[in-house]
Amino acid sequence: MRTESITERLDTAVATLERHGQAHLTDGLESVGTSDLESFVTQVESIDFAEIATLTSVGASAGSIPEDLQPAPVIPRHPEGEDGFRAAGEAMIRRGEIAAFTVAGGQGTRLGWNGPKGTFPSTPITGKPLFRVFAEQLNAIDERYEIETPWYLMTSPLNDAATRAFFKDNNHFGRNPASLLLFPQGVMPAVDDHGRILLEAPGVIAVSPDGHGGSLRALARSGALDHAASRGVRHLSYFQVDNPTVHAIDPLFIGLHATHPASSGEMSSKMVPKIAAGEKVGVFCSVAGRTQVIEYSDLPTEHANATTEDGSLRFIAGSIAIHVLAVDFIGRVTSEKSETSMPFHHARKKVPFWNPENRETVVPTEPNGTKFEMFVFDALEFVKKGLVYETDRVEEFAPIKNADGGDSAESSGRLQTERAARWMESAGLKIARNDDGTVNGRIEITSATALAAADLAGQLCPEFSPGGDLVF
Ligand code: UTP
Repeated sequence: MRTESITERLDTAVATLERHGQAHLTDGLESVGTSDLESFVTQVESIDFAEIATLTSVGASAGSIPEDLQPAPVIPRHPEGEDGFRAAGEAMIRRGEIAAFTVAGGQGTRLGWNGPKGTFPSTPITGKPLFRVFAEQLNAIDERYEIETPWYLMTSPLNDAATRAFFKDNNHFGRNPASLLLFPQGVMPAVDDHGRILLEAPGVIAVSPDGHGGSLRALARSGALDHAASRGVRHLSYFQVDNPTVHAIDPLFIGLHATHPASSGEMSSKMVPKIAAGEKVGVFCSVAGRTQVIEYSDLPTEHANATTEDGSLRFIAGSIAIHVLAVDFIGRVTSEKSETSMPFHHARKKVPFWNPENRETVVPTEPNGTKFEMFVFDALEFVKKGLVYETDRVEEFAPIKNADGGDSAESSGRLQTERAARWMESAGLKIARNDDGTVNGRIEITSATALAAADLAGQLCPEFSPGGDLVF
């Protein structure tokens, strides 16, 4: 319990701000009420000003490109010994060693949805919210393996309350609340071009979530890692909230991660082959034998365009933000004693700020500030052998990022229908397709019916020929 009065804490906070050249953050404070004053002081106390000073010093941005960049070796889609790896993964799932981990702390600015992204209607016909899609998968997995999979869900201080309310209103989608841990990630202040922290309103510092890479320390700080360890969980299946086709828990991938000789069992990743040199996805590379993801904006053009003898892209392994991470590994990377720390990336953004001269909020039309974010794939730097496994785009990558156009609900819905059609075709059904090959109609397969194509075998009558919209 704190013993100092709010006045004493305020005095200390003001002195801290003055010492670090951030005294402008007290502008307008005289108009702020007691409870808002307390939250301002708490904000100041939570900021690591030395870290901000380092980040804003010249040349501090992460992302310098190593010279000896090579394409990362990739485990192909149907690797030798596939059945054995899948069986190893299934045994781990059955023993309760795997938990699901969803990062849902992003602001979803491109989508422009009024609410946490996980509440967005995502499936092509019934419009199931993303959170429901994942919950239904986990329900089906629990039933199949007779387990209760823990689900860790990272929110941010900005959407935590709304996310919790959504789960509560929906009866947690049938999940046991004792195995569903929601926790907010950390935040970082935004700065202007002179390294001065921006003020959102009198007594309110402009902050934003510290990136999906902040998920590792948030797991540790929130107690989720301890919860996992106490439940005998050894690995977390990591995925983003905006991909409704992700296999939340994939036995083959888990088996490869834990038992393949190319993996140290610390952190493994899925990739899809890039469809064009300029596609905006990070690329798995290898530097001195270690796996790394280089962001599309950082990959030198000559590398991005380089081709192999058969004409395919040399740096082809596109990152789709699906990983398995060992609980031990996360503990090591986030430990107080650890020498390792994840770098912050700098992003130029339009950050609304309060102008003390006319006492108004300015909404900039051009980027005016910098936000700091960690990226989860930077943890690969600390991995001895980071396995990269190829998967198929239609099978598990249908992200919803934008309100329209590419990577929107519409494009994702088309991909979801296409995947469902392929599953049904592989089970012997004939699907009505248009001249351009697209499915004539929309199809939605629920997780209770099938988690993968193989689950449909024997469930469908070959004479049945679906047309129009079909949900099953
Ligand atoms: P994106 O990079 O697509 O960002 O996040 P976003 O915030 O969802 O959307 P924009 O860029 O504002 O339009 C990829 C995934 O990482 C999570 C997101 O929730 C999403 O699942 N994420 C991102 C976090 O959990 N925290 C963050 O700080 C950033």
